[in-house]
Amino acid sequence: MSTGPDVNVVEPTVSVLLDPGWAADSLISDVRRGLGSQPRTLPPKWLYDDRGSDLFDQITRLTEYYPTEAERALLAAHADEIVQLSGADTVVELGSGTSDKTRTLLDAFSSHDQLERFVPVDVSEGTLRTAAHELSRRYPGLKVEAVVGDFTLHLSNLPAGGRKLVAFLGGTLGNLYVEERAAFLGALADSLAPGDCLLLGTDLVKSSDRLIAAYNDPSGVTAAFATNCLSVVNRELGADFDLDAFSFVPFWDPHMERMDLRLRSETPQTVAVPGADLTIELAAGEEIRVEISTKFRPDQLRSELAAAGFALEQLWSDADFALTLSRRTP
Ligand code: SAH
Ligand code: AVI
Repeated sequence: MSTGPDVNVVEPTVSVLLDPGWAADSLISDVRRGLGSQPRTLPPKWLYDDRGSDLFDQITRLTEYYPTEAERALLAAHADEIVQLSGADTVVELGSGTSDKTRTLLDAFSSHDQLERFVPVDVSEGTLRTAAHELSRRYPGLKVEAVVGDFTLHLSNLPAGGRKLVAFLGGTLGNLYVEERAAFLGALADSLAPGDCLLLGTDLVKSSDRLIAAYNDPSGVTAAFATNCLSVVNRELGADFDLDAFSFVPFWDPHMERMDLRLRSETPQTVAVPGADLTIELAAGEEIRVEISTKFRPDQLRSELAAAGFALEQLWSDADFALTLSRRTP
């Protein structure tokens, strides 16, 4: 890492794969489909405007929220192996956010002088742009090709070429429903060449007390994060959700083995959403699911990966979290 003048810095590129107006169109259809019928839901990507990304960053620093530090420790312990086993010259990071932990991995690539290109991909444009600029300064000579895109839609449009390692960290896979997970992993495998690798961070099944504590911090940061999606709908579609009338209800679903994060309207509300041409009648006690966070078991990971076309080669874990390295099969 250079601390001198930025002589070798390669300015990052930022490609925007989301059409202008995408956010509005896609939010309108998600709101109509998800909030306009029961059970009421909203896809989690609407949690991450600038404020939501900042709140998530605060979550990662809560003592109750163990996944970030657990994954960071696994990355630090195995970064050299990951570099060597992957043989990659291109790292693609999906749902990259600040790419904070990823620096542990990029440091290892740097010390092996192996990395040519880093492709962070995220829907949260402001956070992505800031991260891309910081990373190009931290790693002089590295080509940072950031992509503002949706990893459920744009995998086939990411920059081509190179021996790839795709990093999908933080447990974000668990925010997809089971059928979305299978579709996502299948599309990811289709977008890769045989021999390319997937580095996947997943949170593991554990005691419900520990899980609920991680998603119900007393300082209310997670509640503010969860409620932020309704602020987004208020701002973008002119809705009048009364945010103070909601309480945050995080619970563990032992059957689906996932955290289920909901907002409960404590009073009846008639909510106008003019931008989606919709009126929503919420009864007292009615809930909106804003996120699931599935927790995994190693055997399940192995079989979901295999079904999509990835052979699991390494599983590193502590009691909390797993990092797997899988290879796209021929
Ligand atoms: N990888 C980071 C951030 C995890 S938070 C970490 O491990 O800490 C989840 C990230 O995924 C956010 O930055 C969010 O903006 C992004 N995200 C959520 N849904 C997305 C989607 N459909 N496509 C692209 N990025 C998405
Ligand atoms: C990004 N994702 C993996 C986080 C999680 O744990 O499911 C989002 C989050 N929601 C509440 N706290 C953190």
